[in-house]
Amino acid sequence: MNALDILRMAPVMPVLVVPDAGLAEDLAHTLVGAGLPVLEITLRTPQALQVLRRIRDAVPQAVVGAGTVLDGAQWDQALDHGAMFGVSPGLTPDLAASAQRRGEPFLPGVATASEAMYAAAQGLHTLKLFPAEAVGGRTLLRALHGPLPHLMFCPTGGIDSALAPQYLALPNVACVGGSWITPPAALAARDWPAIAALAAQAATLRA
Ligand code: 3PG
Repeated sequence: MNALDILRMAPVMPVLVVPDAGLAEDLAHTLVGAGLPVLEITLRTPQALQVLRRIRDAVPQAVVGAGTVLDGAQWDQALDHGAMFGVSPGLTPDLAASAQRRGEPFLPGVATASEAMYAAAQGLHTLKLFPAEAVGGRTLLRALHGPLPHLMFCPTGGIDSALAPQYLALPNVACVGGSWITPPAALAARDWPAIAALAAQAATLRA
């Protein structure tokens, strides 16, 4: 699967900050069972790599990737721990070289036409628009589609269940990313029914 194939598997990719590796399997089973198979584990907690490994090993239906990948060394580590794709808030020459060298699906963050063109010049045509709502959201995506119709996006940042369908209606949006599916309090309380309900609702979102 390439990055676009992965993004097209579900309308929403949960962006996950998992504070405890012991949550990994139940969380992944809950989200996948509710219809969201593509999971982004952000590398923002000390346990994140362990969470990746545990989900990869225990939940074969999950398509699990690493988020907040900031440099090539982190991308190597994430791949070593089972990441099936990578997501970054931006793109640096180091990350671009690493993405090319490893060849696995990689979604760099962009916020402008120049950044999108730079990513495409590195061979990366499926992009994360970040932070989507702050940099122009749907208006920006509509404007980019004219000159850059070959680029596809996963907008992330400030999107919720009310805004998601409006993004999903755009021709250059493959899915949206968001953290609203896993409120930190629900995650800490292991409130799987609450998370399953949010995920099931997200799985039905369409334009
Ligand atoms: C992130 O990387 O933090 C994502 O953009 C999540 O954004 P959100 O919390 O606004 O959904």
